[in-house]
Amino acid sequence: MTVKDNYDRPIISFRMSITNRCNVNCLYCHHDGMLPSSEEMTPDEIAKISEVAKTLGVKKIRISGGEPLIRKDIVEIIDKINKIGFKDISITTNGTYLAKYAEDLKDAGLNRVNVSLDTLNRDTYKFITHKDYLQSVKEGILKAVDVGLYPVKINMVLMKDINQDEVWEMFDFCREHGLILQIIELMESESCEDNNVFSKKYHYNINPIEEKLAKIADGVKVREFMQDRRKYYIGNGEIEIVKPMDNTRFCKNCSRLRLTPSGKIKPCLLRNDNLTDIIGPLRNGASDDELREIFLTGINKREPYYNDNRQ
Ligand code: GTP
Ligand code: 5AD
Repeated sequence: MTVKDNYDRPIISFRMSITNRCNVNCLYCHHDGMLPSSEEMTPDEIAKISEVAKTLGVKKIRISGGEPLIRKDIVEIIDKINKIGFKDISITTNGTYLAKYAEDLKDAGLNRVNVSLDTLNRDTYKFITHKDYLQSVKEGILKAVDVGLYPVKINMVLMKDINQDEVWEMFDFCREHGLILQIIELMESESCEDNNVFSKKYHYNINPIEEKLAKIADGVKVREFMQDRRKYYIGNGEIEIVKPMDNTRFCKNCSRLRLTPSGKIKPCLLRNDNLTDIIGPLRNGASDDELREIFLTGINKREPYYNDNRQ
């Protein structure tokens, strides 16, 4: 039985951010605060929280960051989660350490990875991430494919006058290596120097791209329980569109609960004012029933961020 929130949305997927440390510095990143590594959740704590999520009907676990592969115990974390028995375990990563870990992660039970890669151009990569890691990221992607992590998705955030013209080049790269391309609309990012200026300067409307895809695609699929996102199939290639801004359909079909690196249940990607602490009680010896209640409190706080009133 999968638990539903007050808006009849089942909680299918649980996305745990296990660190906010990162080795790149993307210009659109929200930089979710600085938590010392000594305060991060341990593999056993992460496993315990996942176990409770499973009893509530969660089927899919996604591990994110910061950069999750920056944690030296990442393989142990995946191994412990895998032993609980989920349908799907995935990681979102910047790919810089993927070549090093892909095989061990696969052996530990990881099913798939999403890799953030906005460009194939070295200078543009440096401009966006402030680092020169493009080559290692590409190697990591190929290694992930090689060891059988499937599917490997590329997250490409589109930005005006930065990489807006690179969609088709990226799509060719994806087709060549059997990757899925995920095109993401730039979201506002609170901690950027001036959020308003930032969004105005770089926000790129991806509707025309989606319209073009709709025209040329051989097939379209709607991911009903994944924020109603659309996937377009072109030849042997696949492009998914992620457009969360002002999108009531996206929120209405959101089935995802989150956990912050500091161990708080987060009902919505776009809000930080309605968190529920779970790591404190867990560290103070809360029982499984008490932990379930904490989850339910978090789930009860879920509400669609964009609804017909806000939009
Ligand atoms: P899968 O489809 O299972 O691979 O997950 P995903 O694509 O959501 O995972 P990923 O971590 O790669 O996130 C990709 C993009 O989806 C992010 O950049 C966000 O823009 C968007 N996104 C992910 N989760 C949420 C969410 O809960 N709410 C909203 N509004 N957007 C989200
Ligand atoms: N807008 C859109 N996507 C973002 N990501 C991070 N910050 C933003 C933003 N401001 C994306 C990255 C990463 C995914 C989890 O979120 O591409 O792959």
